[in-house]
Amino acid sequence: MVEVSSGSTYVAVMTDPLSLFDAWYAEAEAAEPNDPNAVALATADARGRPSVRMVLLKGHDARGFVVYTNRQGRKAGELDANPRAALLFHWKSLRRQVRIEGAVERASDAESDAYFASRSRDSQLGAWASNQSRPLDRRETFEARVEEADARFAGTDVPRPPHWGGYRVVPESFEFWQDRAHRLHERRTFTRAADGGWTEGLLYP
Ligand SMILES: Cc1cc2nc3c(=O)[nH]c(=O)nc-3n(C[C@H](O)[C@H](O)[C@H](O)COP(=O)(O)O)c2cc1C
Repeated sequence: MVEVSSGSTYVAVMTDPLSLFDAWYAEAEAAEPNDPNAVALATADARGRPSVRMVLLKGHDARGFVVYTNRQGRKAGELDANPRAALLFHWKSLRRQVRIEGAVERASDAESDAYFASRSRDSQLGAWASNQSRPLDRRETFEARVEEADARFAGTDVPRPPHWGGYRVVPESFEFWQDRAHRLHERRTFTRAADGGWTEGLLYP
């Protein structure tokens, strides 16, 4: 914590981006009408061509930010070929955004298994049926694949499909953007230092 000026008073503010993220995330969970964990995930292919899509944040701690997906899809292919990503949260109700960038690693099998086990059976069956990024001819084909999976795992727990799992973005930089009056928006940046700590900066518009 450090003392900084805020108007005429001095207040203690967090200098650790992970704690600041926790505080903003808790506020987003309270304020956003739906999906406060929705986050844009940007990847790039081996030649540097970018792509972006929404995903749901399913875990975060000091190790990083975890999302889950079909590992046969485009984003997974890009993350495997070029393991770096950017995340962007936009909490409209709070007029805030958070940008996070870093290297990416696969979540462990045990971690992916634990999260998969916590999902509803319908979602679990959907993961077996999905053929993400590779077209299925018709909706009915997908529904038939869900039914097939349902029959295959009748009476038992649905295991995690081998092609489904987590990716963790290990943060190297953060930017916390807060809307302020008269377009004097505030941007607090944090960059990972060589000793593992964080170097903070403050930017205006
Ligand atoms: C709000 C929202 C949340 C989503 N969450 C996920 C998710 O957690 N994992 C996922 O694989 N796709 C999720 N999707 C679908 C992706 O945006 C995307 O369409 C799909 O994963 C295929 O992306 P890819 O072809 O780049 O791999 C979500 C879409 C929306 C709109």
